[in-house]
Amino acid sequence: MMPRIADLLLRSRELAGLSETPELDLQLLLCYALDCSSAWLVTWPERIPEAAQQAHFDALLERRIAGEPIAYLLGTQGFWSLDLQVSNATLIPRPETEMLVEMALKLNLPSRVHALDLGTGSGAIALALASERPEWHFTAVDSQASALAIAEHNRSRYGLQNVEFFCGDWYAPVAAKRFELIVSNPPYIDPLDDHLQRGDVRYEPRSALVSSGAGLDDLRHIVGRAPAFLARSGWLLTEHGFDQAAEVRKLFAQAGFQRIASHCDLNGVERITLGCISVARD
Ligand SMILES: C[S@@+](CC[C@H](N)C(=O)[O-])C[C@H]1O[C@@H](n2cnc3c(N)ncnc32)[C@H](O)[C@@H]1O
Repeated sequence: MMPRIADLLLRSRELAGLSETPELDLQLLLCYALDCSSAWLVTWPERIPEAAQQAHFDALLERRIAGEPIAYLLGTQGFWSLDLQVSNATLIPRPETEMLVEMALKLNLPSRVHALDLGTGSGAIALALASERPEWHFTAVDSQASALAIAEHNRSRYGLQNVEFFCGDWYAPVAAKRFELIVSNPPYIDPLDDHLQRGDVRYEPRSALVSSGAGLDDLRHIVGRAPAFLARSGWLLTEHGFDQAAEVRKLFAQAGFQRIASHCDLNGVERITLGCISVARD
């Protein structure tokens, strides 16, 4: 006898100890496999899904039990006000990165801003900012063409005409340009960090996570080169690891930034560092 929706919902037990949110995960997978809302599940607990839907659900649950992130199974992740397509070519955008967006929006910037997002991945930061500031222009760079294909899909879904994507190594695609704002959430995990063996990050692209030099080499490059790409009074905002704030502030100071500050995420961890360049430099 085929199981009813009520029976399938009980299978959240199989995720106990594997997920912090087993009931929610189960509900999301079931809604996805049945193409229905969570309200529909609650309204029709006695219904029996079709065999193909049941098979789809079983396969998704099996992958979740193996540890695959919900965002990759569903193909989407909420970020800011957007529902972004993600795949295993992109990092899954994190809530702490929304803080970087919030801080960029609070800066005292001119009305016409050219902004640069380095390591855009799914486009999360650039698209969130572009949705809030249609009068600004965004250039977003990533080294992975496969990530940029997803970012372009997300841009077009929201009709954000003020964002352009370029494939290349950090500043290489924007040589000779100047920006009032540079934002970046670069890879910053030490390749030897054992967090890489646990949880969702096992499924995310290594190129989005890991940086040599104990996780700091990409930040060192981005911060060190930023003055050559910032207009007068331009700002740089970077996300970094939970224990890197002091080191990153030092990089900002060495590069000649002023008004350097680090801000904590919702867990009270210094997560974003920013600074301003008062005089444009070569
Ligand atoms: C931590 S992910 C951030 C993705 C997105 N900005 C977000 O916050 O969700 C870092 C991104 O940097 C990109 N990246 C890594 N090395 C790069 C390089 N040398 N030049 C440009 N992008 C690079 C990765 O492909 C990845 O998409």
